[in-house]
Amino acid sequence: MIFYFTGTGNSLAAAEYLAEETGERLIDMAQALRDRDFQYQAGAGESVGFVFPVYYWGIPTLVGSFLKHLQVNTEENGYFWAVITCGGSIGGADQQLRSLMSQKGYPLKAVYPLVMPENYILMPKVMPLSTPEEEKKILEQAESTLEEIGAAIRGREERKFSGPKARIASKLAWTVYRKGRKTAPFWADEGCIGCGRCERICPVGAIECKEGKPVWVKERCVLCLACINRCPVQAIQYGSRTKDCGRYHHPSL
Ligand SMILES: Cc1cc2nc3c(=O)[nH]c(=O)nc-3n(C[C@H](O)[C@H](O)[C@H](O)COP(=O)(O)O)c2cc1C
Repeated sequence: MIFYFTGTGNSLAAAEYLAEETGERLIDMAQALRDRDFQYQAGAGESVGFVFPVYYWGIPTLVGSFLKHLQVNTEENGYFWAVITCGGSIGGADQQLRSLMSQKGYPLKAVYPLVMPENYILMPKVMPLSTPEEEKKILEQAESTLEEIGAAIRGREERKFSGPKARIASKLAWTVYRKGRKTAPFWADEGCIGCGRCERICPVGAIECKEGKPVWVKERCVLCLACINRCPVQAIQYGSRTKDCGRYHHPSL
C-alpha cells in the first residue's frame, strides 16, 4: 500500500507511477484523515510506502498527524519505505520520518529523495520558479530516478539515512514551518471569478468561500500551496510578492 499526500501533484504523479510499478494500492492521507480511516492490513508480500513533499526540510504536519493515528499490520519483516519529493533537497526529513515511525514500532528501511519542480512560490526573488525548459528537464530526470526507485522498492533495498548535521539543520528549518505558518497574507485579487476551486481542492478544508471569495482558516492550513498554484486565473496572492511570479502544478493534474 502507498500512502500519499500532495499539494500540486508532484507526489501524486510519483505515487501513481510507483503504484503501477509495484501493483500496490494508493491511499490518500488527507482523505483518510477526513474519514478517520486509520486501520490497515497489508496483504502477503505487500510493502508499506509513503510519498509526500518535503516542507522546510521536514515533513508536512498533515503527514505527522496521519502517522500518529495510523495502525498498520504487516507480515513479519514488512518493508516500510518512503519517497520524499523536493525542489532541491530533503535535508534531514528522512530522519524525522524514521523517528516518528519508530515511535510507532514501524521500522523505516529506506527513504528515496526525488527532485521535482519547485512549487514554493512565496519568495520569488530568492527562489524563482523554473523556466518551462528547466521544468521539462527536471521532470525527465525525475522519471528516470523513479524507475530506479521502483526497482529498489521491488528489491526491498535498505538505504543509509542522512547524518547529524542534516538532522540539526532540519530541526531549525522545520520549526519555522511549524510555528511560523501564516495564512493572513493569502488574499484573492480583483481577478477572482468565485469559482470555488480553491475551496474544493484544499486537502484540509482550510478554505471557506464567503460571498464568493476565499477565506483561509489558519489552524487547518498546512501550507501545501495548492490554492495559490492551482487557481485557474492566478487570482490568489500571498502579500504583494506573488503578483507576477508564475505558478506551478504538475502537468498531469
Ligand atoms: C511549504 C513548502 C516548503 C517547502 N520546503 C522545501 C524544502 O525545504 N526543500 C525543498 O527542496 N523543497 C521544498 N519545497 C518544495 C516541494 O517540496 C516540492 O516542490 C514538492 O515536490 C511539491 O510536492 P507536491 O506537488 O506533491 O505538493 C517546499 C514546498 C512548500 C509548499
